[in-house]
Amino acid sequence: MASKFLLVGNGAREHAIAQALCRRKDVKLYAYMSARNPGIEELCRSSGGSMALGNIHAPAPIAEWAMRMGIELAFPSPDAVLAAGVSDELLKRNIRVASPTKAASRIEWDKAFLRQLMEQGRVSGCPKYGFFKSTDGLDGFIDSMGGLVAVKPVGLTGGKGVAVVGSQLRDGGEAKSYARAVLTQNIGGQGVIIEERLEGEEFTLQAFCDGRALLPMPAVQDHKRANVGDSGPNTGGMGSYSGGGHLLPFLNQTHYEEAFKIMQKVARILDLETNIRFQGVMYGQFMLTRNGIYLIEINARFGDPEAINVLALLKTPLADIFERISQGGHLNKMKIRFSKDASVVKYLVPEGYPAKAATPSLISIDAKKLKSSKAELYYATVDQRPEGIYTSTSRSIAVLGLGKTIAEAEKKAEAGCLAVSGPVWHRPDIGTKELIEKKVEHVRQLRG
Ligand code: AMP
Ligand code: GLY
Repeated sequence: MASKFLLVGNGAREHAIAQALCRRKDVKLYAYMSARNPGIEELCRSSGGSMALGNIHAPAPIAEWAMRMGIELAFPSPDAVLAAGVSDELLKRNIRVASPTKAASRIEWDKAFLRQLMEQGRVSGCPKYGFFKSTDGLDGFIDSMGGLVAVKPVGLTGGKGVAVVGSQLRDGGEAKSYARAVLTQNIGGQGVIIEERLEGEEFTLQAFCDGRALLPMPAVQDHKRANVGDSGPNTGGMGSYSGGGHLLPFLNQTHYEEAFKIMQKVARILDLETNIRFQGVMYGQFMLTRNGIYLIEINARFGDPEAINVLALLKTPLADIFERISQGGHLNKMKIRFSKDASVVKYLVPEGYPAKAATPSLISIDAKKLKSSKAELYYATVDQRPEGIYTSTSRSIAVLGLGKTIAEAEKKAEAGCLAVSGPVWHRPDIGTKELIEKKVEHVRQLRG
């Protein structure tokens, strides 16, 4: 068994991964980070590992540091790190890896590749789409959909490049202009996809994958919109909840299994068509619509914040799961267990986020209030300075509440948010009864 684990990345998602790894007492945690995450730093120290600061998108220096530290198993975490080929560089040096290679993570960084695979494998849940590298035929295609489309840059854009008619775009005309802008300004770098606009409730299903077998985690619902009532611009995610067990209040067992089957098929077709095995965490973003389940996208990593929900519930040591993933082909012999608690995560974000974050400011945490809230904090983009913790340009701290019900978990997360003071804000409605009832009602209406 490995004991020296390397984690590459430094968000709240990585803080949750670090914590889950360190639950196995023999694990020594090593972290390669682009900024000091105080939570991860403390886990490196207390487990007897170490940390380094550097460019997390530069494979060679990371692999060299891993060699020097005698790392046995690595988990490069964020999407851009995978797309940069960090897993490949570690594997070249015979370090075991529980994350996909650059080629396998193409299902995330090339949206056209994913859609083409789905077509080849006749995988259900694929919306009607067109892939364009130039403006030839673009307008006609948008018109053929009655202008009701989603416009998606093909490459990575930090989750903020997609624009949908009725939300960010007014009509087909604006969709045409935005699609042109994606092409001429080279947003995401690889062309543009036009998809039929879907309507429904979104959910996330994550699964551990060893290249062949997939083991699913509890479903989670993320909230991408910045403001109360799911309004305003898209963000990296303002908070998320899971329902206790694997389902959500609006999602039944049949929906859950249908979504999981789509992920299994994508992994199989990737292997069959390209001879590439996906070893790592697969993230499926789905929409439950009037016509069933659709796959919005697949990511080659944990979700942020969704990782925080599921890893807090995971009873099986994450380190054991990573060992099996890195060996390839041994996950089917494993049973993984999750607690039956519900979970709610709320993100504290700096003033001005997501448009333009204010200048870095000191935040303070009232330890007594935090303790009595029974919430847990996960540090995201913060800067630890001698005088305290400062906000930065992106999400600051994720606050997790667990409970027998979503309502109980929500109360804890909300009380935890109030233990943090400074120029940060959060969405108080995430996980509340009112918002969840709205979602249940939405699905009821859709299904007539
Ligand atoms: P993505 O970056 O692919 O996750 O897309 C960001 C968001 O855009 C999703 O979470 C959806 O809310 C929305 N979206 C993406 N594709 C579609 C679609 N075909 N129809 C409607 N909304 C979509
Ligand atoms: N929460 C959305 C994502 O991680 O992609």
